Amino acid sequence: MKIIDGKKIAQNLRKDIAQQVKTLERAPGLAVILVGDDPASAVYVRNKDNACKEVGFYSEKINKPAGITQQQLLDEVVRLNNDDRIDGILVQLPLPKHLDANLVIETISPQKDVDGFHSENIGKLMQNKSYLRPCTPKGVMTMLATTGIDLAGKDCVVVGASNIVGRPMLMELLNARATVTICNSKTQDLSGKLRRADVVVAAVGAPQIIQGDWIKPGAVVIDVGINRLENGKLVGDVDFDAAAEQASWITPVPGGVGPMTIATLLENTLTAYKNRK
Ligand code: GUN
Repeated sequence: MKIIDGKKIAQNLRKDIAQQVKTLERAPGLAVILVGDDPASAVYVRNKDNACKEVGFYSEKINKPAGITQQQLLDEVVRLNNDDRIDGILVQLPLPKHLDANLVIETISPQKDVDGFHSENIGKLMQNKSYLRPCTPKGVMTMLATTGIDLAGKDCVVVGASNIVGRPMLMELLNARATVTICNSKTQDLSGKLRRADVVVAAVGAPQIIQGDWIKPGAVVIDVGINRLENGKLVGDVDFDAAAEQASWITPVPGGVGPMTIATLLENTLTAYKNRK
């Protein structure tokens, strides 16, 4: 069994981006909007801001009160759409309930949509023509590439069908010519499906629900989940120790997919900069 070291892969990606930034006319710019004071979101936003500074990007961290109106938030997005220093705009999700996240995402200029959530970018992903692709699934593809395994013809099972991870992950794997099964909370015989999988991508958000003996010997296991147990320990959606006995390659939690999401956001911001030039 080998570990797919997301921390290391992300570090190399960031180093490469920092090198490229030095050769550019101006620093690529990313604006991250945080609405309200959800502590987990605040940590994610701070990490994204710090990562930008580290590679030499121009970064704006914009904090808005939880009580902001829909129109005020849309106005802020439009302002950033028209700001030439800004190449990428990210609105941290989830938003407070009175705000329509979909409307906010659709208001971001598709050229600046570094999350890849705008319907135009999702549509392009479905046609295998995309340039701004959702960060976490794209980061998973970068990790899979480091194993040297050709995904064409492989049986892949994605567990979880969210807009942010599961659905775009399905398209990424299909674009790599894999055969993909996507599971949701109503899926029958999940363990049976996983036992036939050459590649498992777990994105459920439930601690260690994927058992080690559901993993086919030699399979590749990608764990997107980050769950905090009552004792404070961070674990994934997969029972790591048991799954590691079966897998050929496996991602740890923490230090797996997490660091890749932010590194891929930087990669997307650089792509958005180049496309705007
Ligand atoms: N919340 C959880 N994951 C994400 C993400 O990838 N992008 C944004 N904007 N919000 C998130």
